[in-house]
Order: sequence, then structure tokens, then C-alpha cells
Amino acid sequence: EASDAWRTVDRYFTSTLVGEDSALVVARDSGDKTTMPNAEVAANQGAFLELLAQIAGARRVLEFGTLAGYSTIWLARAVGEQGHVITLELEPQNAAVAEANFHVAGVSHRIETIVGPATESAERLIHDGAEPFDFVFIDADKPNNPAYLAAALKLTRSGAVIVIDNVVRNGAVADAASADPRVQGVRAVAKDIAAHPGLDGTAIQTVGEKGWDGLIIARRR
Ligand code: DHB
Ligand code: MG
Repeated sequence: EASDAWRTVDRYFTSTLVGEDSALVVARDSGDKTTMPNAEVAANQGAFLELLAQIAGARRVLEFGTLAGYSTIWLARAVGEQGHVITLELEPQNAAVAEANFHVAGVSHRIETIVGPATESAERLIHDGAEPFDFVFIDADKPNNPAYLAAALKLTRSGAVIVIDNVVRNGAVADAASADPRVQGVRAVAKDIAAHPGLDGTAIQTVGEKGWDGLIIARRR
């Protein structure tokens, strides 16, 4: 659970520094209509994703896990009018909520939502020879993190940035013996990144409205 102090600081920065406009508020609030309410990133984290994608010069973004499309809208704004975001979502109900939000945000034309198991959707993109992506955000079912990283490595160019959400989980990530498959999914993907000669990576802990969690940030050489 997020402490009151963490919440207060997030709200301070979000209200002063981060532009969370009405379309984003609509998307955030619509999380209640998805299969996983309140799982979207915080506003300052959404802005961080937008900035990272812009710093990477991203024109093509791939997202694993859409839910209500809150982070997708930040990423669609990052890529600009000529950019493209493909977002992979298991649940048709979530995808429908997200697509309504993309319309409200005026970014529907930049986003393609693919419904189905994300490993299968990514395999299809690989098979179809999709143009390489510049930026990948992995934020879906955590046990599949290693599979999503493997797919991302087949779908990205040199210099591409890969960000993975929810890698701290209230500190549980440090427990090698954890029985939580989500924790083991994070530990496995961290090990894969460390072992991959073509990837540099680090992890940053975060506190705020979303509690104590964190992000892995990796880059293809
Ligand atoms: C969970 C998943 C998320 O993507 C998130 O941001 C928070 C929690 C979860 O699986 O518990
Ligand atoms: Mg997440």
C-alpha cells in the first residue's frame, strides 16, 4: 500500500509538472471497467515513459498489456503524428475499453490493438516480418516476462529501449525462494537481460501512488 507521504508527493508533481489532461483522466478512471482496476502506471510514470520514448527517438512502439490503454496514450503521444503503437491485449473487454479511450484522446489512428495471448500476437508479428520497433513496454502477465523479452528481441532494432513494469513488487523481487510466479517471472527476465551480450540494463525502484515497485530499463546494443 502507498503511504500518504508518497501519494502527496506524486500528487504534487503530477499537478505541477506532469500534464495529465482530461483524456488521460478518462482512461485512468475507465480502469474500473477492465479485468484489473488500478493497475495502470501513475501519471508521472506515464510521463516518464513518454520522455524515454522521445529520448530514444521512437517512431514505432510495441506494448505488451493494454488494459484501459493509459500508458498506450502516453506512448502514442510520444511517437508523434507519424508514429505507430502496437499494443497487445488478452481480454477483448479491456481492448474495447482501451479503444474508446484512444478515440477520446484523438490517437486511435496511431494505435493498433491486437487482441489475444500476447505471445501468440508477437509470434505473428515476427512471422509477418513486422518493421522493427524502437521502444517496447512490457506490462502484461508477469510470468510471461521472459517470453515477452525474447519476442521483443526479435522485433527491435539496435539501440531500441525495452522497459518492464512492476519489477519490485513491494520488495518481493529480492526473495529467490518466492512462491509467487509473478516474482519468478521478474527474476527470470532480469537474469535473461544480464546474460544477454547484446543488452545493457538496470532497475530503478519507485514509490508513489502505486506503492513500492519499479522498472527495468534495458537497451539493445
Ligand atoms: C500488476 C500488474 C501491473 O501491470 C501493475 O502495474 C500492477 C500490478 C499485477 O499483476 O499484480
Ligand atoms: Mg504494470
